[in-house]
Amino acid sequence: MIENPTAYWETLWAAGRQYRRLTDCETTVLDRQTGPGDGRLALDIGSGDGALARHLASRGFKTTGVDCAPSALALASTGPSSAAVTFCRADIESSQPPPLAERAFAVVTARLVYAFVKDKPAFLSRVRGLLAPGGLFWVVTPLTARVPAHRAPTGITTAEEELLTSGWSAVRATDMDYLRCFALRP
Ligand SMILES: C[S@@+](CC[C@H](N)C(=O)[O-])C[C@H]1O[C@@H](n2cnc3c(N)ncnc32)[C@H](O)[C@@H]1O
Repeated sequence: MIENPTAYWETLWAAGRQYRRLTDCETTVLDRQTGPGDGRLALDIGSGDGALARHLASRGFKTTGVDCAPSALALASTGPSSAAVTFCRADIESSQPPPLAERAFAVVTARLVYAFVKDKPAFLSRVRGLLAPGGLFWVVTPLTARVPAHRAPTGITTAEEELLTSGWSAVRATDMDYLRCFALRP
């Protein structure tokens, strides 16, 4: 369990740690779910180097990326086409969460982040509150069962997957080696 997400992630980003790159395979499946942005709002939670947020912006979404690590935001803000995205620094689990409009986002994404969320029920409830009617919650996460034991904390267990996928009107899962991509609709 990561007690202080900002300190934990900042140390890694500041040391130059990188994470699995966004692949065409992932964006193709995502794009099929979202359709064109047409100026609708998208939110990328734990936006890291900004690759997914920039992808959403390139598809026509007015995109916000939220991350708690200053070094990740610095990297994201200097990346190609970063001006198309609003990046903001916030701990999404803080008792004073960032001021994001309720029921406003057509797409909310969380890539390689969900496993690290401490209070998953509270987080899911927050995401549901942010989604516009008919919106999409897109989660990409390793599965604990598919990663080596020492990397188990980076993935979700079967029980955590059940929690993630319960209570949505539609759930679609697509596997990409050790990752599972979830398209969840309220
Ligand atoms: C494994 S990285 C993935 C980054 C990016 N989503 C990607 O796919 O490359 C996890 C990211 O989530 C951010 N993060 C983790 N917990 C967070 C929290 N509570 N609030 C905001 N950002 C968080 C970290 O700073 C880090 O950038």
